[in-house]
Amino acid sequence: MSDKVIIFDTTLRDGEQSPGASMTKDEKVRIARQLERLKVDVIEAGFAASSEGDFQAISAVAAAVKDSIVCSLARANDKDITRAADALKAANAKRIHAFLATSPLHMAVKLRMSPEEVLEQAKRSIRFARNLAEDIEFSAEDGYRSEMDFLCRVVEAVINEGATTINIPDTVGYATPELYGEFIKTLRTRVPNSDKAVWSVHCHNDLGMAVANSLAGVKIGGARQIECTINGLGERAGNTALEEIVMALRTRKDYFDMVCGIDATQIVPASKLVSQITGFVVQPNKAVVGANAFAHTSGIHQDGILKNRDTYEIMRAEDVGWATNKIVLGKLSGRNAFKQRLQELGIAIEAEADLNEAFVRFKALADQKSEIFDEDIIAIMSDSAAAEEGEFYKFISLSQHSETGERPKSKITFRVGDKEASSEAEGNGPVDASLNAIEEIVKSGAEQLLYSVNAITSGTQSQGEVTVRLAKGGRIVNGVGTDPDIIAASAKAYLSALNKLHDPSQAKLNAQMTP
Ligand code: KIV
Ligand code: ZN
Repeated sequence: MSDKVIIFDTTLRDGEQSPGASMTKDEKVRIARQLERLKVDVIEAGFAASSEGDFQAISAVAAAVKDSIVCSLARANDKDITRAADALKAANAKRIHAFLATSPLHMAVKLRMSPEEVLEQAKRSIRFARNLAEDIEFSAEDGYRSEMDFLCRVVEAVINEGATTINIPDTVGYATPELYGEFIKTLRTRVPNSDKAVWSVHCHNDLGMAVANSLAGVKIGGARQIECTINGLGERAGNTALEEIVMALRTRKDYFDMVCGIDATQIVPASKLVSQITGFVVQPNKAVVGANAFAHTSGIHQDGILKNRDTYEIMRAEDVGWATNKIVLGKLSGRNAFKQRLQELGIAIEAEADLNEAFVRFKALADQKSEIFDEDIIAIMSDSAAAEEGEFYKFISLSQHSETGERPKSKITFRVGDKEASSEAEGNGPVDASLNAIEEIVKSGAEQLLYSVNAITSGTQSQGEVTVRLAKGGRIVNGVGTDPDIIAASAKAYLSALNKLHDPSQAKLNAQMTP
């Protein structure tokens, strides 16, 4: 029987540490539900002690998720660990993940602690955590740059105290595959009680080797848990990409001889959701989830594919959840057809009122756009979910005029609370004019960090999906808007970001602001 590799997803914690990727509570819950559909084993939902917002988000994820283990990160001290345990109270299955740096540099410069003090603190913290949960992970931060003898002592001691998973991060992305694999293997051989814990790998992508290093940690080192994120999201150059790990294990089962429990058909929906919520666009040539990952344009390749797909394809697009850009519905499609397509796409609608609201959005889109694709339906459902999160500002209509040689003008009407407001403004371009018109009324004074436009499907018929990232008072928020008219999509995205700044319950401190 093949060994099982545990997939530990940290999109909501390490992924969120990408500058600008911070998520609100509701966004974390939406992503967590998708991670559950993907069947990840462990969802690291955040770092409970880092902010009140993150504590609330972890509690909400713990209450929403039923099938995956929900985890919170904590520094290796009583206060953080208690906070993590409190945030996880509602979880069906919970894990506390305590970390402490063990490399000479981190201990001396960051912690200002001697190795003996670090060893004692690691032991004390795991002993304390074991009173609050059964499932305890210990991470030796900057583990790969730690001294082998010392790391062996720390790991042996924390296993004795009851740690059930031992994670050896390559925190700064310095490792290379063979060396990292050998490092894990040496540790497992030298630590006398190594068989009492599951060994885990956690690699950063600074040299572009996070996936290769993680796989080597499993194949050479004998680790049986991989920590990863959707789209490889994460600090600096990111983390190990979940989609690449899963498809490498599956496609090269002949070599790895290991299985994981992931439902690969949920990979692309997860990738799109994370990209939409964080505003981190997936590069077209990204493995598995990039728009070109399964495109064949050269004549020779197309000819080969037509004769036999195996000539140039090692995976099937549909196996990882790519819809085939099929026209699925149109103006004349009824409510039942819409409902059925949602079911086929695996989108659950709990309340009848939500279905009605989504159907109204679908009809409005079908009036503007004759062919509705699966991607359009997914965008409608994302808009509906975002709307549920509260809309103080709501787009109503927009008209705009631009002509070569003239400064574009825009007039916008939107709801502010229960009143309607209209204003006009000029700008450098039509988008700028529209956002200026909104600011005439809202006067948020927020700083614009990002503006990006993407086509949801192919061709000029496609809806535009706009992401706007705003910063104000230490908070960073993303707003997303979709519409066949990209100026309207931009206004919707801007209003959606303003809604998050306006609503204190959507507060989420920038993940880097750890006390
Ligand atoms: O990269 C790292 O070392 C981490 C630990 C906190 C697990 O993210
Ligand atoms: Zn990390």
